[in-house]
Amino acid sequence: MLIATISPRSTGKTTITSWLLHALHERGYPVKGFDADESEQLFRWWEARPEGSYPFEVEKEASTRFHERVPPKIPVGTVAAVDCGHLENHSGIGWSVLRVADLAIVACAATNSDVERMDEMPLDFYIDQVIKKRDDKKRPETWVLLCRVQPGSTIAPRGIRNTLAEDGWNVFTTEIPAIQKYASTGEGVPIRASGSHFDELVTEMEQRGLIKK
Ligand SMILES: Nc1ncnc2c1ncn2[C@@H]1O[C@H](COP(=O)(O)OP(=O)(O)OP(=O)(O)O)[C@@H](O)[C@H]1O
Ligand SMILES: [Mg+2]
Repeated sequence: MLIATISPRSTGKTTITSWLLHALHERGYPVKGFDADESEQLFRWWEARPEGSYPFEVEKEASTRFHERVPPKIPVGTVAAVDCGHLENHSGIGWSVLRVADLAIVACAATNSDVERMDEMPLDFYIDQVIKKRDDKKRPETWVLLCRVQPGSTIAPRGIRNTLAEDGWNVFTTEIPAIQKYASTGEGVPIRASGSHFDELVTEMEQRGLIKK
């Protein structure tokens, strides 16, 4: 299966994709990463991996032919995760990815401005454009992941969650806080996802039937 991390602008996609790949791997899933962002950040993190981290493949595939090129490279039973460039400037590659994604995770920083950018794009309309091009002729399963949530704040994230739900979005219960551990993700930095918020996210994804072994 293929999980795509998307958002209209910079929100936390590469960080989420990297941690999610580790969390899935540590929970026993065979995983593979794809970098569909021309910035190649995920790929560079993988290339500079320290001993023991990123124990899986990450391939560069920032192409509008992603939908043709990548599915044959995902072994049966493997959970692949792809990091997309921000869709406001990389719409063609984003559509190519969404043509074959089984699950789209919308990385939304818990700020009003990020919700506004989703509405301005508008992201739901953007995603629906791929329906006709997909084999199943359906919208990919789509879930918003609130990220960079200020630790200790509850009222603002709840308001954002409600706004998104009113607009028809599925929103994960798991939230990713704005903390140094995640901000420090980068080249040469080891990742241990067990016990992290991404481990919690994997549990929620399993409970919701979005992934299975
Ligand atoms: N949970 C978090 N806590 C703290 N900082 C974070 C968190 N997630 C991401 N960041 C920081 O926010 C910035 C953007 O994150 P990231 O590069 O993952 O976003 P992106 O959506 O991939 O951006 P782009 O679209 O430009 O590739 C980075 O400086 C990153 O370290
Ligand atoms: Mg990125």
